Amino acid sequence: MNLREYLAGQQKLVDAELDRLVPPETAIPETIHRAMRYSLFAGGKRIRPLLCLEAARTVADEPPGITVPACALECIHTYSLIHDDLPALDNDDYRRGKLTCHKMFGEAMAILAGDALLTLAFQLLASMDAVCGGRKARMIAELAAAAGTVGGMIGGQVADLEGEGRPPEPALLESIHRAKTGALLRASLRLGAICAGADDASYESLSRYGEHVGLAFQIVDDILDVEASSEALGKTAGKDAQQHKITFPAVYGLERSRAMAGEECARAHEALAGFGARAGRLHELADLIVHRKS
Ligand code: IPE
Ligand code: IPE
Ligand code: MG
Ligand code: MG
Ligand code: MG
Repeated sequence: MNLREYLAGQQKLVDAELDRLVPPETAIPETIHRAMRYSLFAGGKRIRPLLCLEAARTVADEPPGITVPACALECIHTYSLIHDDLPALDNDDYRRGKLTCHKMFGEAMAILAGDALLTLAFQLLASMDAVCGGRKARMIAELAAAAGTVGGMIGGQVADLEGEGRPPEPALLESIHRAKTGALLRASLRLGAICAGADDASYESLSRYGEHVGLAFQIVDDILDVEASSEALGKTAGKDAQQHKITFPAVYGLERSRAMAGEECARAHEALAGFGARAGRLHELADLIVHRKS
């Protein structure tokens, strides 16, 4: 199966599982479920679920329950996007090619939709019956840390906002990117590894791969904000410079940023050396993350 067919099939699988796991629009109160589903099914690339599924597949064939952590990751990610787009944060009108959640449902409902997706992610993990309590607890702890304030997504978002207008400084840049985006991407690999029962060596290799693709992912996001069109991105391009964000192009320029994304990608490939053919799709996903156009 070629990469395009594989991606379409896996995205369909993730969407079907999300549809099964998220309350229907008819559940009361209907507005919040409509808002959650509006943003969830607006057409994301599902990179985090795919990384989770493929991390697990390096360890075992289709480990039971693996779609649940994959969906929990997408719930956290979508929540982070809804809140990132709010007027108080990046103030964006478009996301995933559609109006942002707050533009459609109002700010109050967008804040609540984000809160609800965050809470649902942990409910899904805690309710899993396919894995033992120990693995569940490890997944929950890892996801909470990755979404949290110390080196996690919220910590990174705080530093990103407080960095607006500050002199772009390399060490601060790297710490922002590792936290706001890298932590959840690394957690995607780790949840897959834990759910599938990876040994310590595999867990460490997958974590290392996750760190490198995590940093590469945000470098490319910053580059695309400069180079791509709003149509291609499905979100407003050129916002980072406008808001004086600390980004890779701002610190290093475009050419050096591209080279750095390539270096991270190469190190991600190296981290997979011990897995052989089982990591074939993870190799392809690393290249996709660096060469994507949206
Ligand atoms: C965008 O993430 C926000 C960042 C963390 C940089 P994605 O590029 O994965 O967005 P979707 O999920 O495909 O919309
Ligand atoms: C957002 O980073 C990272 C999140 C935690 C959502 P950006 O602000 O660069 O993401 P986009 O460019 O709006 O998707
Ligand atoms: Mg932001
Ligand atoms: Mg943003
Ligand atoms: Mg961005």
